[in-house]
Amino acid sequence: MRPRHKSLILLRMAVLAACGAPFASAANQPVHSAHAIVVSAHELASRAGVEIMQAGGNAVDAAVATGFALAVVHPPAGNLGGGGFMLIRMADGKTHFLDYREKAPAAATRDMYLDAQGNVIEDASVIGYKAIAVPGSVAGMIYAEQKYGKLKLKQVMAPAIRLARQGYALTWEEARDFQNDKHLGGFPESRRIFQRDGNYYQPEEIFRQPELARTLQRIADKPDDFYHGAMARELAAAIQKGGGIITADDLAHYEVKEREPVRGTYRGYEIISAPPPSSGGTVLIESLNILEGYDLVKLGDRSAESIHFTVEAFRRAFYDRAEFLGDPDFSKVPVAQLIDKRYAAAWRETIEPDHASASKDLQRPAIFSALEQYAAAHPQPLYTHEGTHTTHYSVVDAEGNAVAVTTTINDWFGSRVTAEGLGFLLNDEMDDFSAKPGVPNSDGLIQGSANAIGPGQRPLSSMTPTIVVHDGKPFLVLGSPGSSKIITTVANVLIGVIDYGMNIQEAVNAPRFHNQWLPDVVNVEQWFSPDTVRILQQMGYKIDIGLHDGSYVSSYWSDAECIAIDRKTGERLGASDGRNNGKAVGY
Ligand code: GLY
Repeated sequence: MRPRHKSLILLRMAVLAACGAPFASAANQPVHSAHAIVVSAHELASRAGVEIMQAGGNAVDAAVATGFALAVVHPPAGNLGGGGFMLIRMADGKTHFLDYREKAPAAATRDMYLDAQGNVIEDASVIGYKAIAVPGSVAGMIYAEQKYGKLKLKQVMAPAIRLARQGYALTWEEARDFQNDKHLGGFPESRRIFQRDGNYYQPEEIFRQPELARTLQRIADKPDDFYHGAMARELAAAIQKGGGIITADDLAHYEVKEREPVRGTYRGYEIISAPPPSSGGTVLIESLNILEGYDLVKLGDRSAESIHFTVEAFRRAFYDRAEFLGDPDFSKVPVAQLIDKRYAAAWRETIEPDHASASKDLQRPAIFSALEQYAAAHPQPLYTHEGTHTTHYSVVDAEGNAVAVTTTINDWFGSRVTAEGLGFLLNDEMDDFSAKPGVPNSDGLIQGSANAIGPGQRPLSSMTPTIVVHDGKPFLVLGSPGSSKIITTVANVLIGVIDYGMNIQEAVNAPRFHNQWLPDVVNVEQWFSPDTVRILQQMGYKIDIGLHDGSYVSSYWSDAECIAIDRKTGERLGASDGRNNGKAVGY
């Protein structure tokens, strides 16, 4: 869980409240750029991408530059030691989806996080060396650069190497995050780099990462090194020394997969999004298909009625997520049926107009035998927790190429393990598998046996990099961190623009709501009116106000970093999420 000091949160909430709801601290206008734009969780990473486009690179070059820069300036979530998904739509309409999700090592077993009594060992899949899955980010970024970029890897990595070597000034929040993460201190290399062995970094201090700069330089000089060279051997040795099970052979067998993105339509807009092993695109499109049958505009933006229908759509799509979604290389995921508009119409029949459904009573419409057969063969949903701390960035270049990337080391600072001598944090993505049937943990996500641990398998994700196309041209580039809330955040933003006619910044700023089938609650940000909350409660909803982060209510929800393209002027409109410190930078 992301560490936040309670007083900071209360202070921030007070400031927001004083400014007036909803989310008045953020500007209501996006950044307007004539040619190209990058929106990411860190200004310096957005600038790295822009620098590369101004040097002649395309949106993919910029995305790779931004990705490597985030590994330097946003260590809690940007990464070399994690994985991600990159959705590319070139100006000629061709799309490419790169899956560089982490993989379970060959020695991984279904029960590896259970004790002799069959109970889940607390934190075993979250903190420390055993939580690490084989990282894919470096392979993915190199693959993207070499296949779809225009420049050389060395050139696009140069800003990241510079930032690691020369350092950058930490914000107040970044310095506090380094200091406050109690698990980081448990790993000497992480404690030395991020906590300066207890002499904690202060805001505005320059944070330099010489080991990381060396690692980046080695990758730039010899891209094969991370998976097939000396670096692979060093990384595997460092992980094994700490008790992990990843071998150099696991790294040598890592491969990026190009997959077909999932596609749907919503009120005449084409939606292109992440296929399995992400649940993101499937759940998004299934939700939107259900919602298409309701006149949300007439019901009113964020009225109790429109929230009701939207939540019921989320509830049903997440119910299906739990049953069907997993790594498509290991189980057949019935995506086509799940995103079929007839299936959505059948689901709508189960929604009462004025009353909440109960998650435990949902009955899947029996219109596709493939779904029924699958569900009968896999009756037991499994429970898992997904780290809430991922990062998303969006890019559009001057030609109209668009890239949406969501990348993660799962939890904030991942497993908290820094690879000794290499200077980067490693993921705890093994936790995105289901450790054991029916055992609840902090995020409350339920998943099916398709997502049980298996060697070489990719854990189910919620990452939802999405591109919306209108009249054959890119219109929106969307994405967010936030675990299961990624999907509903993207849906909230998309509906904000398409249904409610908001500009992209207003849609990103607008208060969000979420339901994921189980637990059977509706999470709403604290800026909803008490009247709306009361009506929803009268309709039978259990409302959870604010996002509970540990034992207290956090004011942040997630960090959507989105772009719209003005259909009249062609301007690139960048909306960074005011809930955090991201930045849209363009030219
Ligand atoms: N680890 C978060 C996700 O993949 O959705």
